[in-house]
Amino acid sequence: MNRKPIFAANWKMNKGPSETEDFVKSFLSKLQGSNFNSEIVIAPPFVSLAKLADLLHTATAVQNAHAIQIAAQNCSQYDAGAYTGEVSVLMLREFFVHYVILGHSERRAIFGETDEIINAKIKKAREANLKPIFCIGETLAEREAGNLESVLRTQITGGLKDISEKDLAEIVIAYEPVWAIGTGVTATSEQAQDAHAFVRSVIAELYGADAAAKIRVQYGGSVKPGNAAELMACPDIDGALIGGAALEPQSFLDIIKNGTPSAE
Ligand code: 13P
Repeated sequence: MNRKPIFAANWKMNKGPSETEDFVKSFLSKLQGSNFNSEIVIAPPFVSLAKLADLLHTATAVQNAHAIQIAAQNCSQYDAGAYTGEVSVLMLREFFVHYVILGHSERRAIFGETDEIINAKIKKAREANLKPIFCIGETLAEREAGNLESVLRTQITGGLKDISEKDLAEIVIAYEPVWAIGTGVTATSEQAQDAHAFVRSVIAELYGADAAAKIRVQYGGSVKPGNAAELMACPDIDGALIGGAALEPQSFLDIIKNGTPSAE
């Protein structure tokens, strides 16, 4: 199955508009002339979406600028109205947003997002034709208690409840073991591959073998230029969701370069 790898920079709460501009200008100049067989996505904070969209759409001279897709880091499960501090999917569409990260462990742990809320957000995103990057992953305590598979199964079935096969085809799953996020401790390629194969097997149970073979499953958690090649060589890993190492243009580019098998 030929799945195009997807490398997404999750900047989290870093880089306002001016730092976004510095990054993108540098990244585009480094990218010039390269031809990657991977999709490249940048997820800035909401306040930097307009700047990112502007930079990518005016950079006509730079090859590949249009190939970079924009992601939001969150969206509301509601349409509009009295939801102070929230951002709707239709608002995101105005900034040429294609993807939206949902279910990130930081949203689950710090902001109390449940599988039910994440499911509502995935549905809302699909109504606006946004593509969810649906994050799942276990804590260290859950892994050590032998609950890896049950945790992942619960997150997958809860998050994808009543999602059609047609909508599933527009979803990317990101497996991010919580203990590997921002810690410098990466899952070994064997641990990551095992978890990814399990995720795919759950999708096969829910949607059939064909859907499972097609869905892209990214790995996230301390991905760096030095470990990208080994992780991406695993048969069930289709790219990466990168935090810290995607804050610097050269490092993000090196991850894409090292992790894309046929990079030129
Ligand atoms: P780090 O790459 O900083 O570990 O973060 C991973 C992550 O949470 C991406 O969403």
